[in-house]
Amino acid sequence: MAIPTPHISATSKDLIAETILLPGDPLRAKFIADNFLEDVIQFNAVRNMLGFTGTYKGKRISVMGTGMGMPSIGIYSYELINFYGVKNLIRVGSCGALQPYLKLYDIIIGMSASTNSNYLHQYNLPGTFAPTASFELLEKAVKVARELGVIYHVGNILSSDTFYDDDSEAWKRWAKMGVLAVEMEAAALYANAARAGANALTILTVSDSLVTHEETTAEERQTAFTNMMKIALEL
Ligand code: HPA
Repeated sequence: MAIPTPHISATSKDLIAETILLPGDPLRAKFIADNFLEDVIQFNAVRNMLGFTGTYKGKRISVMGTGMGMPSIGIYSYELINFYGVKNLIRVGSCGALQPYLKLYDIIIGMSASTNSNYLHQYNLPGTFAPTASFELLEKAVKVARELGVIYHVGNILSSDTFYDDDSEAWKRWAKMGVLAVEMEAAALYANAARAGANALTILTVSDSLVTHEETTAEERQTAFTNMMKIALEL
C-alpha cells in the first residue's frame, strides 16, 4: 500500500517505530515526546494529529494522537499497521469508572473491549467478535504495574460511541456485566490489530466515576498520567 496516506504524511516507513503509544490528544503526544523521549523527530502534523519518533532508554518508540472515538482511532491505527508496518500499538487514555470500588487515578488495563458501536459490523462475522488485547503486551503491563506498586485493575472495558448518551442509565447494564470502565477507542484498535495480526493494548487512568460523579482536575491528572506512561514506555 502507498505512503504517505491520506492522514499521515511520513514519507518512509522508517520514520515510525514498530511500537507506538497512542494518546487521544495530539498535544499529549507532544508532551510525551518532549518529556520522555530523546532524539525526537516529528513525522506527522496532518490535521494537527501530531506524531513523533524518538528513543526511550535507547529503544526506538513513536507516539501519536488518535483523536476521540472509534472512527478516528480506526483510521490512524489502520494506516499505522497496514501502511507503515507498526506492530505494537498501545493506547494511553482516560476512562470513566463503572464500578463502585474503582477510585480516581486507578489504572485500568483493558483485557477486552465491549462496545455499543457498529465498527465491528464491517467484518460481517456470523456472530459477535470479542475485541481482545495482546496477551504478551498485557502480561508485560501487569508486571510493570506490579513493580511500580500502582493500583491497577485488569478486565473488560466499554468502548462507547457516545460521551453524552441519551439514556443516562445505559452504563449500568454494562456495569452489571462486570465491565470496569468506559472510554471511546479500544474496541476499534483491538479489532484493527486482530484483523492485521498486530498487537494492541489499552492502558487507562480513571478520570471520573459514573458511580460517584467524582472528577479529577487537570493538574491531578498529570501525576496519574505519569504512572500510566511509565508502564506504557516499559513495554
Ligand atoms: N465516557 C467516555 N469516555 C470517557 C469518560 C466517560 O465518562 N471519561 C473519560 N473518558
